[in-house]
Amino acid sequence: MGVFEAIGTDTHEEVLFGSDPRSGLRTIIAIHNTSLGPALGGTRFYPYSSEQDALRDVLRLSKGMTYKSAAAGLDLGGGKAVIIGDPNTLKSERLLRAYGRIIDDLGGRYITAEDVGTTMEDMVTIGRETPWVTGLPYVHGGSGDPSPATARGVMAAMRATAARLWGDDDLAGKRVAVQGVGKVGMSLVERLAAAGAEIIVTDVDRSAVDHVATTYGSKVVGLDDIYSVEVDIFAPCALGAGLNDETIPRLRCAAVVGSANNQLATDDDADRLAERDILYAPDFVANAGGVINITVEMEGYSTERAATMVDRIYDNMSAVFDTAARDEVNPHVAATRLGAQRVEQVGSLRLRRRPDTVPTRGAK
Ligand SMILES: NC(=O)c1ccc[n+]([C@@H]2O[C@H](COP(=O)([O-])OP(=O)(O)OC[C@H]3O[C@@H](n4cnc5c(N)ncnc54)[C@H](O)[C@@H]3O)[C@@H](O)[C@H]2O)c1
Repeated sequence: MGVFEAIGTDTHEEVLFGSDPRSGLRTIIAIHNTSLGPALGGTRFYPYSSEQDALRDVLRLSKGMTYKSAAAGLDLGGGKAVIIGDPNTLKSERLLRAYGRIIDDLGGRYITAEDVGTTMEDMVTIGRETPWVTGLPYVHGGSGDPSPATARGVMAAMRATAARLWGDDDLAGKRVAVQGVGKVGMSLVERLAAAGAEIIVTDVDRSAVDHVATTYGSKVVGLDDIYSVEVDIFAPCALGAGLNDETIPRLRCAAVVGSANNQLATDDDADRLAERDILYAPDFVANAGGVINITVEMEGYSTERAATMVDRIYDNMSAVFDTAARDEVNPHVAATRLGAQRVEQVGSLRLRRRPDTVPTRGAK
């Protein structure tokens, strides 16, 4: 498939292919939309089986970032980057710095962060070549690991969902199934336990579930059994695409609220959930705590300001449910609609020229 054919009608502004043969760097940076602000999105370092797969992934993920930041009310656009290869064998200082130089050439149109296969320390290395990098460790003036902020945001989303379903946002006594107790899932479990919820967990990592069981007295179930436990809320916090035509009929919950990206295997799965009367809190609204945290880092980090901004996910999610009810659509469609509306309405302000954006004839 040709590049323009792959981009299709998703209207990406720019797709940049960069390479540094000496280090083996092959990267694709996709800028989906910058009407609300610079395109922000992480760098995924992954051994894609083909260049087509890498292109498909970066196009899909960058578009998702546009809606995530727009729905979170941020002045950021959507972008993403992929580096093709196995991070365990290919990653080197030269490769990361060469990549940093490519980002730098974009002059701030794209801002990177950590994602699958990259770490906070990698961001520091990239940052030696460009200022357009976020998610740095505290000691480098950054905001550190975004996972606690993401978990805080999921809690806000859960409370908004509880208020909608039960008329009360107190999670005390609610049964919550957490699929995946990694960085976000573990922080979520801590918060749920503090809120008095009853927790059921699963993970491929035995030591992680053992820790939860002994610390919080949580019940542990098998990897596949998590879909059919009877709970109030199912919280996917592992990998994407867990909700599909095979798992949705098995769910025994009133709501789905979690941090995993791309929880729905297809858009039709949002209808499948609605048909089963399960309230779905759209993933990209619920898990925006990380990107909100990064926005605060860009302004000069403050934990208190970050927490206040992340807690607004409660209102964002409530607005999604209101729109879904008013327009008689599922929450996934409502959230995408709200994000797109903001890109169109606020983004079009940029069409109004400011004096300092009018180039002087003959100026360099
Ligand atoms: N870290 C963040 O700030 C952030 C922000 C937004 C979205 N997310 C998304 O949230 C999810 C979790 O992120 P994370 O940073 O905690 O990742 P992580 O790798 O730390 O945790 C994922 C956990 O899921 C477990 N897991 C893997 N396969 C599983 C399976 N089949 N069943 C049950 N458990 C399984 C892993 O063992 C691991 O403990 C991911 O989808 C990520 O994209 C994370």
